[in-house]
Amino acid sequence: MKLADNKATLSFSNGTPSVDLPVYQGNIGPDVIDIRKLYGQSGMFTYDPGFLSTASCQSGITYIDGDKGELLYRGYPIEQLATKADYLDTCYLLLKGELPDAKQRGDFHDLVLHHTMVHEQMQFFLRGFRRDAHPMAVLTGLVGALSAFYHDSTDINNAEHRDVAAIRLIAKMPTLVAMAYKYGIGQPFIYPRNDLSYAGNFLHMMFATPCEEYKVNPVIERAMDRIFTLHADHEQNASTSTVRLCGSSGTNPFAAIAAGVACLWGPAHGGANEACLNMLEDIQRQGGVAKVGQFMEQVKDKNSGVKLMGFGHRVYKNYDPRAKLMQETCDEVLGALGLENDPLFKLAKALEKIALEDDYFVQRKLYPNVDFYSGIVQRAIGIPVNLFTGIFTLARTVGWIAQLNEMISDPEYKIGRPRQLFTGSVRRDVPTSVKR
Ligand code: ACO
Repeated sequence: MKLADNKATLSFSNGTPSVDLPVYQGNIGPDVIDIRKLYGQSGMFTYDPGFLSTASCQSGITYIDGDKGELLYRGYPIEQLATKADYLDTCYLLLKGELPDAKQRGDFHDLVLHHTMVHEQMQFFLRGFRRDAHPMAVLTGLVGALSAFYHDSTDINNAEHRDVAAIRLIAKMPTLVAMAYKYGIGQPFIYPRNDLSYAGNFLHMMFATPCEEYKVNPVIERAMDRIFTLHADHEQNASTSTVRLCGSSGTNPFAAIAAGVACLWGPAHGGANEACLNMLEDIQRQGGVAKVGQFMEQVKDKNSGVKLMGFGHRVYKNYDPRAKLMQETCDEVLGALGLENDPLFKLAKALEKIALEDDYFVQRKLYPNVDFYSGIVQRAIGIPVNLFTGIFTLARTVGWIAQLNEMISDPEYKIGRPRQLFTGSVRRDVPTSVKR
C-alpha cells in the first residue's frame, strides 16, 4: 500500500485528544483512511453497517468505477474481455493476474476441461435431496460436500492445495449445476464431454439425454460463455466478502466457497435475476405492457415494498456495463431462436424506457443492472428460472477463488472480526422466579 502525502486527523468535541490516521492511495479509486489503530488510541470503534464507506481489504483483481459505469478485471475493460476473450481466458486472468499466451491458454483449457467429472459417489449424496428442492439449496450442499469428496486439497495454507481446489471447483461447478437441474426434472445425469468448450459442455450436460445428443448452437454457446464472463467477479460484493470472511478462519476452500453460494442466493444479490424474471412474468400475467405504468406507481410507493428488480446497484450509479453487453446478447439470442417478438423482452424494454426517464429513478441514479436482461437470455436458452442463480454461482466461483487466494497470500490478512455498538440490556440478574 502506498502512503498518501496527507493524513487524516480525527478530533473530538469532548476534549479527547485528536488522533492522526494514515491515508493510503490505491492505483485508481478513492484513498482510504487506515483506522486500524483507532481503537487502541481512542477506545472507539467506527460504525458502518453495510460497509458504505469501509474498504475491507486491499485487492488487485477487479475495479469498478460506479459513476462512470466501468468494470475492469485486472485492468482490462469487461467490454473487451467479453468480445476478445472467453470465460476460461478470463478465469486464467483473474487467478493469475495476466491473460494467457497461446501455450498457457491451451494448457489451462486442457486442465479445466479434463477435471469436469465429479466423484461418482456425489450423485448418491445428491439423491438425498427432495426432487423439488431449490437448486441453490442443492448447490450449497453439493459445494460444501466437495470438501468431503476431495479432502486431499483442503489445506487453505498450502498453495498447491489452493491451486488444485481452484481447478476442481471451476471444472466441476458446471457438472454440479447440470446435475442439480437433471435431478429436479427426473432425468438421468449426463456425463461431461471433454471435447466440447466449457460453455458447450455445460449446455450438453443440461440438455442432452441418453436418447438424444444435444447439438450445441454456436450463438447459444457464445451467449452462455458471455454470461459466465460477465459474472466472473465483481470485487468486494456480499458473497465475495462472505467467502473472504469465512476463509479468514482458515477453513478449507470448498467450505469458504459454499458460504459464498449461500450468500449469493439472496434476492438482493444473485437471486435478483430469478426475482426479475418472476416480476416480468407477474406483470405479463396482469396485462403486460399496458400495466407497466401501474406497476411503476407501486415501485415508487415506499409502502408497497415493491422494487423494480434488476434495477439499482450499491456501486453503479450509472448503466451497469454488463447490462449493455447482456442486452446485446439478448438481441442476438432472441434473433437466432426466432423470438424477436418475445413479450417479456418487449415488457423489459418498456420498463427500462420508463425507468430511465422517470424522476424517481433519475434522481436516485437507478439504472439496469446485469440481471435485468440475463434472465430473458437464460429463459430463451431453456434454462428454468430457479436455476438462474445457480448459473451465476457457477460463473462467480472463479472470482471467489481468486479473491480468497489473494487474501490468504496477503501478509496483512487476519481473521475477520467486526466489532459492534451494543444496544442490548446492560448486566442484570436472572430472577429466581424463572426456576419452576
Ligand atoms: N426499485 C425501486 N427503488 C429502488 C431500487 C429498485 N430496484 N433500488 C434502490 N431503490 C431506491 C431505494 O428505495 C432508496 O430510496 P430512498 O433513497 O428514497 O430511500 C434508493 O433507491 C437507494 O437505494 P438503496 O436501497 O439505499 O441502495 P443499496 O445500495 O442499499 O441497494 C440494491 C442496492 C440492493 C441492489 C437495490 O438497488 C435493489 O434492491 N435492487 C433490486 C434488486 C437487484 O436488482 N439486485 C441485483 C444487484 S446486482 C447483482 O447482485 C448482480
